[in-house]
Amino acid sequence: MTGREQWGSRFGFIMAAAGSAVGLGNIWRFPYTTGENGGGAFLLIYLAIILGFGLAVVIAEMLIGRAAQKNPVGAFKELGGGAWPAVGFMGVFTGFIITSFYVVVAGWCLAYVGFMASGQLASADSALLENTFTSFISATGAPLIYAGVFMLLVVLVLAGGVGRGIERANKILMPLLFLLLILLVLRSVTLPGAGEGLRFYLVPDWSQVTLGTFREAIAQAFFSISLGMGTMITYGSYLRAQENIPSSALTVVLLDSSVAILAGLMIIPAVFAAGLNPSAGPGLTFITLPAVFAQMPAGTFFGVLFFVLLSIAALTSAVSILEPMIAYFVDEHKLNRRKVVFGVCAVCFGLGIPASLSLGVMSGIKFFGLNWFDLMDTLANNILLPLGGFFVSLFAGWFWGPRALQAMSNDGTINQPWAPIWLFVVRFIAPISIAWILASSLIG
Ligand code: TRP
Repeated sequence: MTGREQWGSRFGFIMAAAGSAVGLGNIWRFPYTTGENGGGAFLLIYLAIILGFGLAVVIAEMLIGRAAQKNPVGAFKELGGGAWPAVGFMGVFTGFIITSFYVVVAGWCLAYVGFMASGQLASADSALLENTFTSFISATGAPLIYAGVFMLLVVLVLAGGVGRGIERANKILMPLLFLLLILLVLRSVTLPGAGEGLRFYLVPDWSQVTLGTFREAIAQAFFSISLGMGTMITYGSYLRAQENIPSSALTVVLLDSSVAILAGLMIIPAVFAAGLNPSAGPGLTFITLPAVFAQMPAGTFFGVLFFVLLSIAALTSAVSILEPMIAYFVDEHKLNRRKVVFGVCAVCFGLGIPASLSLGVMSGIKFFGLNWFDLMDTLANNILLPLGGFFVSLFAGWFWGPRALQAMSNDGTINQPWAPIWLFVVRFIAPISIAWILASSLIG
């Protein structure tokens, strides 16, 4: 295929992939999921999954993308044939589901930029902050407007191509977000009463661990490193032949995990300091952080800056969830990129409407005991992403096998001492672990 877009440099690719990985998953979802699943033990299981086989599956996705130079459906068609493209289709479908709730939460972040700036959150009173959050997200109109504004930003970026703008912005803003996180961690862990939170987060209590802990850890791990729906296949497809994929993938995964660990250190001690319950769910970040800002110098300034950076982190991730779908319609159906962007984003926003309303006026409507928002989150993260990762590892390990190793060494030009271990992981460890977790959660 000629004229396919390419990343500007190795650094640009790593930043784009890290921009995809670092997002709401790290800063919003990780701390509350850790809080709901017992703290320290969850953190360790999560890291074990990421390093034990998550990294290997990221490498597999990037290799597949680079070898095929195509979107996920096209890549499986070209390299696998037969029924393999179904894995790509599942990814495209998963992208719609994830975007539908992702834009809702990203809208909350945008709204919080304004709330912080206006000073209405300048309080350490957790009951008040909780009330502000709950009444905002359960409203009918306002959260939808913010989600719509966020979706428009996504459209602008995607319609212009994933080109220089976002790559360049990422290079400055991601390091800034990282520095700000460290500052907030320092404030959070020195709050009076934070010690108990540190213990909860860092000292594992294995008595809390159940099968459910593993199920949530794998869901969180895959969501956080953008795995299982073809984002990394698509980003790999914009890669030049000489890239050292395992080393880039390792950098991306380490960056992503560090941000998640820092986000936990920022939120969880502050939760205990404020006397809140760590298992309070999706509101945790939004309720706790304003209290941290209220107790630090120039809190309003840092608060506004934080939610701006978080919104941008969410934007680079949302773009990466949609890019595989856009690339699919453009590559395989030869459609005009702009039209595809508008169409796909309109459908995703449409799916986001019930996700947002299910936290308010539609909260009575349940499917399998879950409201629409939780249904989409559970379907994507607990089922579709692990399933996608399962098939990617089977494909890379068994179907592709020796050719995968060839691709990893860039046709023998670089030495990959870890390659046999990687092959063992994608052949056995990854599929068996994922199958075990998926099957046991089906059985109950
Ligand atoms: N990893 C992103 C986050 O942590 C979300 C994301 C981007 C994603 N691309 C993805 C999740 C692909 C699953 C699959 O916020």
